[in-house]
Amino acid sequence: MLSLSGFIIVLFARLVSGGPCDNIVNVTSSWPGGHTTALLIPIKTPITNWTMIISFSSALTSLQVWSAASTSTNNIQFQLTNLSYNGVYSAGAILSGVGFNAYFNSSANPVPTVSSILFNGVNICSTVVSSSTTSKPVTTTTARLLSTATTAKPMATTTSSTGLPTKYNYREVITKSLLFYYAQRSGRLPVNDNPIAYRSDSALKDVGQNAEDLTGGYYDAGDHLKLGFPLASAMTIAAWSIIDYPIGYSSAGQLTTAQNMVKWASDYLIKAHVQTNKFYGQVGDGTLDHNYWGRPEDMTMSRPAYFISTTNPGSDLAGETAAALAATSMVFASVNSTYSALCLTHAKQLYDFAKQYQAKYSQSMPQAAAFYPSSDFGDELAWSAAWLYRATNNVTYLNDAKAFYTQFGLSNNPSEFSWDSKTAGVQVLMAKLTNDTLYKTATKTFCDSKVNQPKTPKGLLFISTWGSLRHAANIAFVCLQAADLNINPLAYRKLAQQQIHYALGDTGRSFVVGFGVNPPVKPHHESSSCPNRPAVCDWSTYSSTTPNPQTLYGALVGGPDSNDIYTDDRSNYVTNEVACDYNAGFQGSVAALQSLAVQGVFN
Ligand SMILES: *[C@@H]1O[C@H](CO)[C@@H](O)[C@H](O)[C@H]1NC(C)=O
Ligand SMILES: *[C@@H]1O[C@H](CO)[C@@H](O)[C@H](O)[C@H]1NC(C)=O
Ligand SMILES: *[C@@H]1O[C@H](CO)[C@@H](O)[C@H](O)[C@H]1NC(C)=O
Ligand SMILES: *[C@@H]1O[C@H](CO)[C@@H](O)[C@H](O)[C@H]1NC(C)=O
Ligand SMILES: *[C@@H]1O[C@H](CO)[C@@H](O)[C@H](O)[C@H]1NC(C)=O
Ligand SMILES: *[C@@H]1O[C@H](CO)[C@@H](O)[C@H](O)[C@H]1NC(C)=O
Ligand SMILES: *[C@@H]1O[C@H](CO)[C@@H](O)[C@H](O)[C@H]1NC(C)=O
Repeated sequence: MLSLSGFIIVLFARLVSGGPCDNIVNVTSSWPGGHTTALLIPIKTPITNWTMIISFSSALTSLQVWSAASTSTNNIQFQLTNLSYNGVYSAGAILSGVGFNAYFNSSANPVPTVSSILFNGVNICSTVVSSSTTSKPVTTTTARLLSTATTAKPMATTTSSTGLPTKYNYREVITKSLLFYYAQRSGRLPVNDNPIAYRSDSALKDVGQNAEDLTGGYYDAGDHLKLGFPLASAMTIAAWSIIDYPIGYSSAGQLTTAQNMVKWASDYLIKAHVQTNKFYGQVGDGTLDHNYWGRPEDMTMSRPAYFISTTNPGSDLAGETAAALAATSMVFASVNSTYSALCLTHAKQLYDFAKQYQAKYSQSMPQAAAFYPSSDFGDELAWSAAWLYRATNNVTYLNDAKAFYTQFGLSNNPSEFSWDSKTAGVQVLMAKLTNDTLYKTATKTFCDSKVNQPKTPKGLLFISTWGSLRHAANIAFVCLQAADLNINPLAYRKLAQQQIHYALGDTGRSFVVGFGVNPPVKPHHESSSCPNRPAVCDWSTYSSTTPNPQTLYGALVGGPDSNDIYTDDRSNYVTNEVACDYNAGFQGSVAALQSLAVQGVFN
């Protein structure tokens, strides 16, 4: 027993140092205001269940735990208990796979660290520390056991929590992608839930033409426009991934954060739906916004708002927003039924509006045409009908979806799945909801064509220079869904994994800010390009060749061209911008892959 502990402290002392629990806790990543920590607990006597009380040196704002149930009354001490699958261990085993993200005030100094851990009533931190000076020779059995637990896998490999090992730490990617959405928040930020130190309240005067409150929501990309069409599209996909891959999020300790991520958007979309048939689809003037480079908190330009109505309708915008709110109502069905019902009411009204007044929103809201012009609205009509059917089980919506599918020729093989084109999403969602060969064949045709499409020399499924990685990730998401329906599952999961791994580092570099090897450091993104206050932030900041002073954790950049060529250049908004739209299919795909790995299905 003593030699086991002694060996562990010697081994771990080299990896981390500084606190009484350093032999047990492994901080695998950290950022201002938080850290991700894995626990490695040596088991000394056989157990059938466990309770752990973890104390921190100072209060957290929240602790998100994976592979354990967690409660706390004071945010300093947390009680963790085993789940159904990780209660039983024999003597000599190492309990691994349990870990957490700790969030705290980003100005905290020193940062909160683990000060003690009681495991089934025993303080395992001090016990091991006291034996560290008396390290004894290790038996062969113990050495083998320890090497399995700590060094058997290559450095690049990480466990998916339980289940199969994954090449990249998906939990970290999911956590950081959600941090990116935090960084995009507009409006009044909750005092106890803002992990982005350089962000605070902004655009508090966003109002409609009749002074309706339009604060909140997300900034679209590197700029500060609020654009409803791509936002709703991103949120439909994000909500979809939470509905279908909750294990992906919960095993990363991120389920609640992910729910709150879509709620930050749905709260805003509900505000913007000011009358049954009137919806604000944009806040901010493109030219005025793009003439400014700086912090959103410092903006002073006017920010006009634009809407659709019965006289200037937009079925694509209203339909996509209905889809997003229907999907969000499903996310909240078991969390808050009142909120879920509220989302559904708005979804139904927006769907009826879209169906009854058919037009393209970019004709009705010319301001939007400059950024996200819609090529058609038939796909969003079918898409919103399918999502309303999924959320309500009311066959009226199913019949509508089928009719729109035929009317708008949605069985044709689309080239992409994007904020503009939902057809591939309609096909796979209808396949899932109906099990009808018509839709399954269309989905198979789409994913087969992507499997067979020649890739770039380094393996990217290249669709377009604008946001090349986003396109690949969106297709990955659709084909992961198809795989769930048992349509060529292995081939589609491999395609998806290959595309996501391309973004995470397979070409030798990461395309996700603040993650992995050689990540982008100069994303085209205003707030993260600004130095800490009170330093000025303006066009000279934009022109500087130094890295963004703030790390925009989790943002997927646009990505390389068709020859895998990419330069990390802030002024290049084609390859180096970031967007709510870019991260959605990417995050959803990572959640799906994490879910598959945790369940031992695929890695
Ligand atoms: C601690 O985390 C680091 C970084 O993720 C990892 O390389 C290392 O293997 C971990 N240590 C142990 C003992 O698992
Ligand atoms: C939990 O562990 C305790 C202590 O070993 C034991 O007495 C109890 O029966 C266990 N409970 C279950 C449900 O296994
Ligand atoms: C913890 O493990 C015990 C025994 O394996 C099990 O009965 C219990 O349900 C587990 N706890 C939870 C919350 O699943
Ligand atoms: C975070 O800490 C700073 C410095 O101590 C303090 O001014 C600020 O109010 C704190 N923020 C919160 C949310 O507690
Ligand atoms: C549930 O949602 C409603 C409507 O948004 C809100 O008023 C209420 O506070 C929520 N309840 C909880 C427990 O968050
Ligand atoms: C289904 O939806 C339609 C269209 O909104 C509505 O007229 C009908 O009453 C709904 N049916 C049920 C059973 O709720
Ligand atoms: C779906 O359809 C296939 C035939 O295409 C059938 O074998 C399978 O049982 C169906 N599944 C469900 C859930 O209805």
